[in-house]
Amino acid sequence: MLTCLKARVLLQFQSSREGDIIMLSRRALILAAGTLPLAACTGSDAYARTVTETWRLLPGGAGFPAGALVHAATLAANSHNTQPWRFSVSERRIHIAPDLSQRTPVVDPDDHHLFASLGCAAETMLQAAPGYGWRGAVQAFDPRQGLTLDFIPAPSSPGELSRAILRRASTRSEYDGRAVAQDQLRALAAAGGPRVDLALITDAGRLGQATDFIVRGNAAQVRDPAFRRELKAWIRFDAAEALARRDGLFAAASGNPTSPRMLGERLFDLAFTEKGETDKIVRQMRSSAGLAVFSSREGGPAGWVEAGRAYTRFALQATAAGMKLAFLNQPVEDVPSRAEFSRWLGSDLRPDLVVRFGYGPDMPRSLRRPIAQVLVS
Ligand SMILES: Cc1cc2nc3c(=O)[nH]c(=O)nc-3n(C[C@H](O)[C@H](O)[C@H](O)COP(=O)(O)O)c2cc1C
Repeated sequence: MLTCLKARVLLQFQSSREGDIIMLSRRALILAAGTLPLAACTGSDAYARTVTETWRLLPGGAGFPAGALVHAATLAANSHNTQPWRFSVSERRIHIAPDLSQRTPVVDPDDHHLFASLGCAAETMLQAAPGYGWRGAVQAFDPRQGLTLDFIPAPSSPGELSRAILRRASTRSEYDGRAVAQDQLRALAAAGGPRVDLALITDAGRLGQATDFIVRGNAAQVRDPAFRRELKAWIRFDAAEALARRDGLFAAASGNPTSPRMLGERLFDLAFTEKGETDKIVRQMRSSAGLAVFSSREGGPAGWVEAGRAYTRFALQATAAGMKLAFLNQPVEDVPSRAEFSRWLGSDLRPDLVVRFGYGPDMPRSLRRPIAQVLVS
């Protein structure tokens, strides 16, 4: 559980393009040291309690467990933790609609990540259902209306993927460099299914080249004032802010010290540099066992949903096998990098999602808004 951050943590500030360690200037350290330890302790117990309340599967009760399934779906990965979804229920049908008020237009101008996030929510719900004695399937998708999922009773069988829902997390730390065994790589490779190409890269030379793409895409983003502004707006700099909103990127979940927003924003401005980010990406990639790239065959919003579903199967499988994973989507977010990255992959598809995986430590968890805020009927 999250504990009060100690002053020594101030020696490093993780700059949080969803997570980097960057050495701060002496001036910034002195500025930070006066304020942070106290601020970091504020609210951490309440945060830990809310994490425990969030990261559990609700009891299903009698009949169709709509609330429990919606809650499970909200635990899915989603871009910037904006939780861009609205759920509605009728009888044995659950509808997941896009919430366009949660768009991130700079990093995601065509809503690619928003639809991938809906796919993550749908797949998480489908994987949770057997644990409640139900089986579901996607019946329909429309970019304006979203996804319709229908459920029928089935023998209760909480499989390893449904049990992994609570432990899946975006773990943005360095990993321990261990390789993943061939039989486990084969099991992970199946996550793509028939609609998504999944490239698993584990060769050191290829991983080095992939790192260059990630670094280049990242550099373009770090230099972009609009990108910096949007990212900063979605960081929750301390526990109080994270608890009040229950969305966004909690600084500590990326291994960063927490501080009130006013100070956190200043530290971010100082620490979020091209060099710091590059060094961090290189360290993170060197410590990872491999990289997974998901490219949907059909493209467009329906394909992006499928990419999110494939990522979720992959993430749950990896989590069940004791692995950690984190997105490094820079080469698909930066448009010029994306075209070159696709050529390098030897594919004529648009690459959708880029994820590193390996073995590493647990990190503080993210929060979710309660289902009452996302369940519209
Ligand atoms: C489509 C999509 C894109 C994402 N892009 C990134 C990314 O580029 N970098 C990153 O660190 N996390 C990325 N994330 C992870 C989210 O930030 C993360 O899922 C969210 O903060 C919730 O945290 P959790 O995954 O630990 O539950 C992405 C997630 C999705 C679904």
